[in-house]
Amino acid sequence: MRCLAENTETGKDLLRFLTCGSVDDGKSTLIGRLLWDAKLLCDDQIVAIEADSQRSGSHGQDIDFALLLDGLQAEREQGITIDVAYRFFETQHRKFIVADTPGHEQYTRNMATGASTADLAVILVDARKGILTQTRRHSFIASLMGIRHVILVINKMDLVDYDAAVFYSLRATYLDFAEGLGFETLSCLPVSALKGDNVCAASLSMPWFDGAPLLAQLEAVEVYSSADSLPFRMPVQWVCRPDLDFRGFCGTVSSGHIAVGDTVVVAASGQTSTVRRIVSFDGDRAEAWQGDAVNLVIADEIDISRGDTLAVPHDCPDFADQFSARILWMHADPLLPNRTYLIKIGTTVSGVRINRLDCRINVNTFERTAAECLALNEVGVCDVAVDRAVAFDSYAANRGTGRFILIDRYSNDTVGCGMILHALRRATNVYRHAETVSKSARVTLMHQKPCILWLTGLSGSGKSTLANVLEQHLHGLGCHTMLLDGDNIRHSLNRDLGFTDADRVENIRRVGEVAKLMVEAGLIVLVAFISPFRSERRMVRELMEDGEFLEIFVDTPFDVCCRRDSKGLYAKALNGDIPNFTGVQSPYEVPEFPELRVDGTADVATSTEAILALLRARGIL
Ligand code: ADX
Repeated sequence: MRCLAENTETGKDLLRFLTCGSVDDGKSTLIGRLLWDAKLLCDDQIVAIEADSQRSGSHGQDIDFALLLDGLQAEREQGITIDVAYRFFETQHRKFIVADTPGHEQYTRNMATGASTADLAVILVDARKGILTQTRRHSFIASLMGIRHVILVINKMDLVDYDAAVFYSLRATYLDFAEGLGFETLSCLPVSALKGDNVCAASLSMPWFDGAPLLAQLEAVEVYSSADSLPFRMPVQWVCRPDLDFRGFCGTVSSGHIAVGDTVVVAASGQTSTVRRIVSFDGDRAEAWQGDAVNLVIADEIDISRGDTLAVPHDCPDFADQFSARILWMHADPLLPNRTYLIKIGTTVSGVRINRLDCRINVNTFERTAAECLALNEVGVCDVAVDRAVAFDSYAANRGTGRFILIDRYSNDTVGCGMILHALRRATNVYRHAETVSKSARVTLMHQKPCILWLTGLSGSGKSTLANVLEQHLHGLGCHTMLLDGDNIRHSLNRDLGFTDADRVENIRRVGEVAKLMVEAGLIVLVAFISPFRSERRMVRELMEDGEFLEIFVDTPFDVCCRRDSKGLYAKALNGDIPNFTGVQSPYEVPEFPELRVDGTADVATSTEAILALLRARGIL
């Protein structure tokens, strides 16, 4: 077996590590000092940093090591999008890639990015401040992301008079905390990055510490890459078919090894074949390893398409549309169960819904508590339901095929990352039945074109009144209709739901599914719900066929709704007696592209006529 970490040219192996800590813990100074003391800087960098330190350094005539990395920081700020900076260096014994991740709380996302490829984490602590929530969070994320080796650097020892008692007390606190995190090696190191104590050379100021300095530890730590023993996986990125004689499956081997003559299996179908050729940029080869981009030609004409995963038959990935996962939420808007997001597993992107939030995990105590949502930087265990079945492994078994990211459907921002725990089998024995009487057969009998008229707007905007008058009109015209009104449905189907964001998401999911069934029955469905969130209105739109969902924004200013206050709710809400009231403490997101906007202050007859005109224009009347 080839050792993956090994560099065949020099025989030196490669250690990927990341540094993490709060702002001002001294990460830049530590790496700057490491490169300086280990004489890993080029002459021009040395001249530049000496000049910079004289000019703008914060340590008088001394070298300001942080400036070395701050140059990079400036580039980073200009580039804005570079979240994690990777720096390469090499000593006599080893090659290193260090991922430097920003320390602000909101940059947990970057730390997770850096951690997903690292073997070791250097976690910095300011000796004066001690073990902070941030330290615990970073350690927890490192553990979640599968990092098994940690060096806890207790920095700024010069500022606590190199006091052994401070070091040992922090060490004890950390060891106690980290016990449940499953690190294979964990060493604690008293350091002054500024003065150079225990960075490359043992500290003269801390003779009481007899451990090796940081660089020596980084050079010595043994990280066996488990990647060597992982089974073969390759997500198919595209099918290459330049002519009728050639069909190859292109992708990057995400784990394991494959050779010509090996049997491969398609995870989705279980069909097998043998590898006939492995073609790469440099021509044909006998085998391929993790990280290699290849084009596999297989012996038989079996069904394989983009997004499929190729594997080995004796050790196949799971193939399911539901699994349990730990999710680290990385966005200011909370994760809400039942809201739909996009999920990227390997190379495929699909729609996804968090079916259930089992619990939230406290990063300080590991305590699990019930939760309705996950806020920024929180970690929870969730049941995840993907739109279609996908191939995956558990993260514990395979980091590459066991992780995913969640993406917001509107902004395309990465909003969370997840680690798969296990597949959920509960939905696998449920099949869809073909219906003999089809939707179109039902619709034909109704002699009408079914649709949803989705009225959205503030409470008191006039949705229900308008929907009532409209239904009377349609009824008079001989249309088959049904009216779903928020207040009424909240007395029946949705009587278990309140007005938190999570409950409103579920409220709309249910009414959307019901309205869809009614459209399948051939009805014109009038829905009058506040439905304050764009995301859920869009979710219902996407459930329907083109042209079946007509969003009508009943646009009545907040002041007018307050003055009307037909149910007396605004007075109560403004008095603080109703929590989460829409427009008061809870937001209403105005529709961006409704099919129609009606003025909620105009008379009902005018608005009704406008909606009827829309129905005529759409061929519904
Ligand atoms: S939605 O936001 O989840 O779509 P829905 O349309 O079902 O709301 O219900 C709104 C009705 O519930 C309002 O017209 C009002 O009568 C009542 N209500 C009670 N509490 C609230 C609240 N906190 N926010 C909004 N409406 C409320």
